[in-house]
Amino acid sequence: MNIKQQLAEHLAGQLDGIDSDTLAGLLEYPPNPEMGDVSLPCFKLSKQLRQAPNKIAEQLAERMPSHPLVLKAQAVNGYLNVFLEFTAFTRELVQEILTTADRYGSSTVGEGKTIVVDYSSPNIAKPFHIGHLRSTVIGNALLRIFSYMGYKCVGVNHLGDWGTQFGKLISAYLRWGSEEAVRQDGIEELLRLYVKFHDEAEREPALEDEARAWFAKLEQGNEQASQIWREFIDISLKEFDRVYDLLGVQFDSIRGESFYNDKTASVIEQLREKQLLEEDEGAHIVRLDAYDMPPAIMLKKDGSSLYHTRDAAAAIYRKNTYDFDKCIYVTDYAQNLHFQQWFKVIELMGYEWGSNLVHVPFGRVSLEGVRMATRKGNVIKLDDLLRQAIEKTLEIIEAKNPQMEGKEEVARQVGVGAVIFSDLSSNRIKDIVFTWEEALNFDGETGPYVQYTHARACSVLRKAGGGERLAIGGANAADAAGTATVAAELLNDDVSQLVMKQLAMFPEKVTQAMEKYEPSIVSRYLIDLAQSFNRFYHDCPILVDDAKLRSARLALVESVRITMSNGLRLIGLETPERI
Ligand code: ARG
Repeated sequence: MNIKQQLAEHLAGQLDGIDSDTLAGLLEYPPNPEMGDVSLPCFKLSKQLRQAPNKIAEQLAERMPSHPLVLKAQAVNGYLNVFLEFTAFTRELVQEILTTADRYGSSTVGEGKTIVVDYSSPNIAKPFHIGHLRSTVIGNALLRIFSYMGYKCVGVNHLGDWGTQFGKLISAYLRWGSEEAVRQDGIEELLRLYVKFHDEAEREPALEDEARAWFAKLEQGNEQASQIWREFIDISLKEFDRVYDLLGVQFDSIRGESFYNDKTASVIEQLREKQLLEEDEGAHIVRLDAYDMPPAIMLKKDGSSLYHTRDAAAAIYRKNTYDFDKCIYVTDYAQNLHFQQWFKVIELMGYEWGSNLVHVPFGRVSLEGVRMATRKGNVIKLDDLLRQAIEKTLEIIEAKNPQMEGKEEVARQVGVGAVIFSDLSSNRIKDIVFTWEEALNFDGETGPYVQYTHARACSVLRKAGGGERLAIGGANAADAAGTATVAAELLNDDVSQLVMKQLAMFPEKVTQAMEKYEPSIVSRYLIDLAQSFNRFYHDCPILVDDAKLRSARLALVESVRITMSNGLRLIGLETPERI
């Protein structure tokens, strides 16, 4: 049940030429209960209806036909304030949540459509740092949200495994490195070699030429260069996989930029045919002056491809392979221009699906105010961050509940949850200043707070059933639903009603999160729901003797548990039942 949708359909009949979808989009939840439960700001309709807002509101209030979910409607200052008939509303909602259970909030809008999500995409031979965490966590949440809305989703990891830096690394490896050291210290050693190369090259510029030569060999398929390069990839993937395992992230396709190397020639060919390519000091570019952008360099002087070229080739390959409706790229906003440029190039090539390429940018992470720089070794490694978060959770558990069963597993679920949630807790476009203190803070508006609240609901339901897991899920939920049909009128106190209203908002929050590519809409919703549920828990005794009241409240608890668990899973957190 979407309460706004229902009201909108009901109201649409009263307003000439305004459809219910427009109305549903205008309806708001007023900040305080005196202003009703849902309200329509009529000034947004006055232009189209050529009437003053208060006139529209008054007419609607007068002529509003009766509806089982509506108690009354009032016109106040150009708003139509609708008060819900709470018993009917509660009964319908609880029934819906308990019967749809782990599908509550889902939809089928995406059926038959495919979304490709290009996310995470770290660079080989460099540590997986917290900048890539953002792409991983946001992309993973979007993938889950789109799947929940019925889309077929393909998660793609576009590894950065190509570019001149590999020439530098090969050169550094042969000069100062060894197979044993790389085997032993992995990316750490590769980073040391990379940093050393830059230090040395400052003193000895000829090194840059040597590196360029190695990259050229790699491009030509030279056996020695390729073998060393493949070793870098193996070592890196081994470490990345550890992080992905901890985060619970999986990809449908892992293809490095190198995969598209032999596909760039066709891009260049097409550009040439369309006379879009221009020679400029030996390089080949596509001019974008008409679109207020600097030219996109597609081919370097030495004939090698660029990041742009490989992205264009990859998009064409993906269109042919997956026939996507949208292909989404999750990177930090420093790459805005890059995406705008090559999206335009695709469009100019005549691919009308160019408009279905979407860049989802996010804010940058700085280290207590200082920009991170891999070359300088100034990075926070994700591995460290996750491990510290898990350790800290384990310490808290040891202090509070040392007897807990499976505490290592719970520490992992909660520690990792804290890191993911903190990344998703504000608008993605906001810059993040990383501090250890904040990253390891579990109080207030954090993932552990929501997970803990979820576990609290599970625990009440366990106690109510007397035995293990009784009343959670399956047949017991349906029983609770049956009882709630009778007792919904008992959930008429302010706090229960607040919780109910929030539960009803979940489906539209998921839709908004999808439409705006903004998982933080779900995480902020979860904080609000957790806060009001904790108020309910504090104010309303649940396991009371009155059997009717008890089952009504238990039905509310179960509804909260279901919604919270669905929301947590959508943003990539696990849902331990005991903490
Ligand atoms: N490897 C790139 C980086 O770390 C991100 C790649 C994003 N995906 C893409 N198709 N360009 O900045």
